[in-house]
Amino acid sequence: MRMWNIKNLKIQSRVVLAPMAGITSLAYREFMKPFGVGVSVTEMVSDYGLVYGNEHTFDYIKTSDIDNPVGVQLFGHEADVIIKAMQIIIDSGAKFDFFDINLGCPVHKVTNGGSGSAMLKDTEKLREFMSKIVKFSPKPVTAKIRLGWDDKHLNFKENIKALEEAGVAMIAIHARSAKQMYAGEPNFEILRNLRDEMKVPLVISGNIFTLDDAIRALEITHADGVMVARGGVGNPNLIKQIDTYYKTGERIKEPSIEENAQNLIKFMDMLIEEKGEYRAMKNLRGIAPKFFSNYPGSKQLKNEIAQTINTRDDLLTILKNHNLIN
Ligand SMILES: Cc1cc2nc3c(=O)[nH]c(=O)nc-3n(C[C@H](O)[C@H](O)[C@H](O)COP(=O)(O)O)c2cc1C
Repeated sequence: MRMWNIKNLKIQSRVVLAPMAGITSLAYREFMKPFGVGVSVTEMVSDYGLVYGNEHTFDYIKTSDIDNPVGVQLFGHEADVIIKAMQIIIDSGAKFDFFDINLGCPVHKVTNGGSGSAMLKDTEKLREFMSKIVKFSPKPVTAKIRLGWDDKHLNFKENIKALEEAGVAMIAIHARSAKQMYAGEPNFEILRNLRDEMKVPLVISGNIFTLDDAIRALEITHADGVMVARGGVGNPNLIKQIDTYYKTGERIKEPSIEENAQNLIKFMDMLIEEKGEYRAMKNLRGIAPKFFSNYPGSKQLKNEIAQTINTRDDLLTILKNHNLIN
């Protein structure tokens, strides 16, 4: 396998577990890790949230020995506030390997204040912002960007150069503009051979739902790693497929629906352990049906799960009624 690294950190798989707010809590990352995740990133954390000590903000930066290496993702738009937040994380004693700066979030609440993908609009400001952050940080700093703000401003080449000059250790690019949000085809063609022009490792993101999606994105861009985001939710085997393919050339098959029901139960129990049953089951209403998306004829099962689960027993009963578990 082609080896790659984030500064001194050797990454053992081509698969990067994408950060997803509301999904990639520690329990999710620990559940996904054994399928072949090389490196993961926490959900995005607000620098202000940390500086003003919001109670739940600290939940986002929980890490463990199972899920490593891991990056803590921050968003903000003032270097001095981000730096304060970094210091708070360091002082908390949290175990993590690098900071990742979110320069891609397209959500209005975030961009309106100048954070996330709004940072992509002004390359010089971005360079200055990231230079200060890198200069301060005792750990490597990585960046997650998009192609640009909208299709008239696809300035990723200038932004990548500025980020490299600022000293970032890796760049992940979601191959959509901020305006595209999460819809429409990612544009990998515009990133053809991009890695060959870059000094630091490149990770590619956008609609990675199958092994062939990953192969195509990596082939076109020559990226070092590929981010599994929505495609891995309910389909942890996708990570195993990509990791195995790049280690052995083998294409492993899809799990049976019964096997994936067992995956779901395992994830449910980890999530309950993390959040308590009430919050875990609320979170699972959106996630659990996705464990059955790849199996034809599961519409009713998915609806039942999405609409009726309040407790662990509710989910087990539904799975039993559909003969998926004993
Ligand atoms: C629900 C959701 C939450 C996300 N949260 C974050 C986040 O906190 N930080 C970030 O950098 N990207 C975030 N993303 C973007 C993903 O990391 C990824 O780049 C994007 O979904 C494209 O990949 P996909 O098309 O394979 O899902 C989020 C995406 C989704 C769908």
